[in-house]
Amino acid sequence: MDSDITFSIIKPDAVSKGYTGQILTRITGSGFTIAALRMVRLTRQQAEEFYYVHRERGFYRGLVEFMSSGPVIVMVLRKADAVDEFRKLIGSTDPATADRGTIRAEFATDVQKNAVHGADSPENARREASFFFPAIEIF
Ligand code: CDP
Ligand code: MG
Repeated sequence: MDSDITFSIIKPDAVSKGYTGQILTRITGSGFTIAALRMVRLTRQQAEEFYYVHRERGFYRGLVEFMSSGPVIVMVLRKADAVDEFRKLIGSTDPATADRGTIRAEFATDVQKNAVHGADSPENARREASFFFPAIEIF
C-alpha cells in the first residue's frame, strides 16, 4: 500500500504564476487522488532540511533560497506505483529537455524554477510526507 503514495510540492514559481489549479487538474486527471494537501511557506531552515541530500551541490544555496521565497502547495498523492507514475507525469528536471505534455514542459520556467517536486523513491515519499503531515492527516 505504501508504494501507492508519493509526495509532491507545487513550487513557488508555479504558485505565484497562478498555475496551482491547472497543475492539480493535470494531476487528478492522470488518476492520482489527493491524500493530503496544504499551502505553506517553508522557512529557510525547512528548505535546507528538505533538500539536505543536495547540500554539496552547486545549486543547493539557490534552491534553498528559491524554495523559501514564497508559498508552496505540499501534498501526498495516491495511485498504483505512485512514485514512478508521478515522475513520468512531471518530466525531467530541466524543462528544456522534458517530454512534451509533461507538467514541467508546460509550466516550468527553468531547471531551478521547475514548477513541481516529486519524490524519487517510495522511502523518500514516506519521509517527505511525514515532514509535513502526521499520519492521521494522510487519507
Ligand atoms: O526534482 P528532481 O528530482 O527532478 O531533481 P534533483 O536532481 O533532485 O534536484 C532537486 C531540485 O534542485 C530540482 O528540482 C531543481 O529545482 C533544483 N536544481 C537546480 O536548481 N539546478 C540543477 N542543475 C539541478 C536541480
Ligand atoms: Mg530529486
